[in-house]
Amino acid sequence: MLYLLILLLASSVLAKNYTERLIVGHFPAEFAFGVASSAYQVEGAWDADGKGKSIWDVFAHQPGHIKDGSTGDVSDDQYHKFKEDVQHLKWLGVTHYRLSIAWTRLLPDGTINNINQKGIDHYNAVIDELFNNNIVPFVTLFHWDLPQGLQDYGGWENDTIIEHYKNYADLCFKSFGDRVTNWITFNEPFITSWMGHETGVNAPGIKDVDAEYRTAHNLIRSHVKAYRHYDQRYKTAQMGRVGITLDTEWKEPRTESPADLAASNRAMVFRLGWFANPIVYGDYPKIMKDKLAERSKIQGHAGSRLPTFTAAEIAENKGALDFLGINHYSTNFVQATTSDKTKPGFFNDQDVAYISTNKYAWGLRKLLNYIKTTYGNIDVYITENGAADCGTNEDQVRVDYVKRYLNAVLQAIQDGCPVKGYFVWSLLDSYEWDSGYTVKMGLFRVDFSRPDLPRYPKTSAYFYKSICKEKGFTQ
Ligand code: NOJ
Repeated sequence: MLYLLILLLASSVLAKNYTERLIVGHFPAEFAFGVASSAYQVEGAWDADGKGKSIWDVFAHQPGHIKDGSTGDVSDDQYHKFKEDVQHLKWLGVTHYRLSIAWTRLLPDGTINNINQKGIDHYNAVIDELFNNNIVPFVTLFHWDLPQGLQDYGGWENDTIIEHYKNYADLCFKSFGDRVTNWITFNEPFITSWMGHETGVNAPGIKDVDAEYRTAHNLIRSHVKAYRHYDQRYKTAQMGRVGITLDTEWKEPRTESPADLAASNRAMVFRLGWFANPIVYGDYPKIMKDKLAERSKIQGHAGSRLPTFTAAEIAENKGALDFLGINHYSTNFVQATTSDKTKPGFFNDQDVAYISTNKYAWGLRKLLNYIKTTYGNIDVYITENGAADCGTNEDQVRVDYVKRYLNAVLQAIQDGCPVKGYFVWSLLDSYEWDSGYTVKMGLFRVDFSRPDLPRYPKTSAYFYKSICKEKGFTQ
């Protein structure tokens, strides 16, 4: 009880320091206004036209994993309804659409030995449809749906995955790179590592802290490999850009005490720095290396559980990105704590305690300033930001959320942060992973009770449409 009281007091004091302020103003002319989605969450058609099974197809079909027992087998059926959805994008007036490619449509077993032409034809049709309607695609190569065929050989934990991923990326660059110039190698590698391999809440459902760090290591190596490959083989002819999307809250210290300040810094480093440092500077952050060496030793682990990069890898890693995608949803208030030293676990490794809130959009402004200070003048795109609603067309909660967060982006741009675009998550209500269809995050409501899955614009769709038209805030 006392703890709760202190917590409430502390967060209200902090909140007072950063009262939300909305400003009037316009975004730069070339700013990208978009919406985002991912293949498994919207496409459905899970076994159509030669598609292979992904780890999510397998995981969702097993009982006990998904809150409402549902699967993405049909979802929004965007596979068949993409032309209709492009019209919704056009109506919104967005300049960009972020979609992902399902690896298993192109390479059913994950390997380059077996190419499925129908999968290539499908994405060619989607990309052409977007271009014919003046919408620029932002394409994610991997949004969690690893081919089960590769998982059977250890998935991200097996070093051979790096070559498989490179071959898949090469096929995408070769097939679509004449039109697609914005590539995101990975969506949220932190979530793949943590929720897929430590908590097991996401596919492939592994519960092993060591697997988590090994996975992250191979995700980074795969990103760098694909980035360098594009650079050497395709960049001159296609003139595209390759980036990565990392997810992070803003980590606000709960108090000004040195211990809490250090804890919030540690939390940023473990969350964003884990992936951003190697890709920008070559190697894992020192704080992480030290902490994990110390913790692994206490737990009787043979050596640190954080893998190491070779000197050649460090050199290759350095600067392997043309832009940074950021998925951001909330702020955490962070407090130093003494974790159970004998218990391995990503959050224990940091010795911090959290309280989460999505009330404070200033957290995004602070985050963007932190990125600029820590990683320099890299182009940043907010590749996801959005809120859940209660399932009706009147979603004032999302209107307020998007307004505040997008306004915070405008303020960050005025601070001098190089933010180049913003994508609302998401176009449609869709399959929200382990929550199934219980969480609604679309600008459009989808009536899942009807076989034709009609879409209806919510209040937030009208609001975002006006923002896209005005390219800013006029009042
Ligand atoms: C992050 C993920 O990239 C996306 O797939 C998910 O639906 C949203 N956040 C909302 O939870």
